[in-house]
Amino acid sequence: MAKYLIQKSAPLKGEVEISGSKNAVLPIMAAALLSEEECTLRDVPALRDVEVLKDLISYLGAEVNRIDTNTYTIQTREIKSTEAPFDLVNKMRASFLVAGPLLARTGRAKVYMPGGCTIGARPIELHLKGFRALGAEVRQDEVGSYVEITSDRLVGANVYLDFPSVGATEHIMMAATLADGPTPIQTAAEEPEIVDLANFLNKMGARVKGAGTETIKIDGVEKFKACNHGIIPDRIEAGTFMIAAAITRGNILIKNAVNSHVKAIAAKLTECGVVIEDTDEGMLVRGDVNPLVSTNIKTMPYPGFPTDAQSPFMAFLTTVEGSSVVIENIFENRFMHVSELNRMGANIKIDGRSAIIYGNRHLEGTKVISTDLRAGAAMVLAGLVADGTTELSEIYHIERGYENFVEKFRKLGATIIRIDD
Ligand code: UD1
Repeated sequence: MAKYLIQKSAPLKGEVEISGSKNAVLPIMAAALLSEEECTLRDVPALRDVEVLKDLISYLGAEVNRIDTNTYTIQTREIKSTEAPFDLVNKMRASFLVAGPLLARTGRAKVYMPGGCTIGARPIELHLKGFRALGAEVRQDEVGSYVEITSDRLVGANVYLDFPSVGATEHIMMAATLADGPTPIQTAAEEPEIVDLANFLNKMGARVKGAGTETIKIDGVEKFKACNHGIIPDRIEAGTFMIAAAITRGNILIKNAVNSHVKAIAAKLTECGVVIEDTDEGMLVRGDVNPLVSTNIKTMPYPGFPTDAQSPFMAFLTTVEGSSVVIENIFENRFMHVSELNRMGANIKIDGRSAIIYGNRHLEGTKVISTDLRAGAAMVLAGLVADGTTELSEIYHIERGYENFVEKFRKLGATIIRIDD
């Protein structure tokens, strides 16, 4: 099994180019199943999750060609199977997103239940509620190992989401593009990835309005056309490098990030004393100007503080003056990095959905694991400021979601290597 060896590093300095967004590209690849025409996708990050979804949509009938490292064409002249088998979906939660396009295009989808990060129960009832509202029939086996959804014809309908779920919003949006009539989604998620998916669907010929607000309206169309779309930059990767500048007291120029997508992370880093400047070349993040102090964080749906940046930010908070409180409102099991950080010398106490982080800790390198994708990123950041060597295992989680992670850190001066055991 591969590992990262990380050593205490000098403050990170230099520039880093942000890749295309993992969370935007996955639903867009699934949405390409809706159309018979060719979709060209640019700025696709080279990630394990992208490979996994490529295998799944290819199995279902898509012809996927990699034109160069970050450009793909996808064309699904016909759907060859309406069943997504367990061995293809269990590697990644987002695989479930093929159900909506399969249903809309063929009237049937049978999908085995997804895997992915174990950060909470991650139910799908909001997705299913949306499909039922559009007139589909939903069946699950007794143990919930698969879901089968069928419909003669989807009919547009009002869908109220009890929570602004990102996946459910994306899923219902995709299915509704081929339904008869309008589908307003209320309490829709407002994440930038939702807007990117809507832009992609509209380039294909769909009629989606209001993405990025709490009400999205989709008017069904008959068919789609060829399109060409560039994926938005990854705001969580950008946030991770912003926090890297802070934790190492470094000075990093972040290129290709969309500033408005990382406002909450920037605001919280600024509260801690980090200086962030917008320059013509990108966002300059400086942890080397002021003494850095504690702050409190609550994760919220966008535009609130993203749950995906919570664990890297917590690693940073262990190093500042004072104590901080972090409240995780989105996923009930997203503090798995706490025990790993504590093993390195952090002092973090969990009480339900809250964690108290006592600052100014002296971290020591030891053997730790990546318990999930973002927790893995948090451990890398902690390793950069810990004395000695941090041996981080189960890094496949990190490689699912960060393109050229080690190379990007090394370019900034970090001492980190990947070894195969
Ligand atoms: C997506 C992101 C993930 C991010 C999350 C929240 C992708 C591939 N993943 O995940 O990185 O952390 O958004 O920003 O884009 N929920 C229900 N019922 C449902 C669906 C969700 O109760 O039917 C709950 C979940 O259990 C969770 C909350 O809603 O507590 C948020 O989940 P959701 O927004 O759906 O996240 P994902 O789309 O799975």
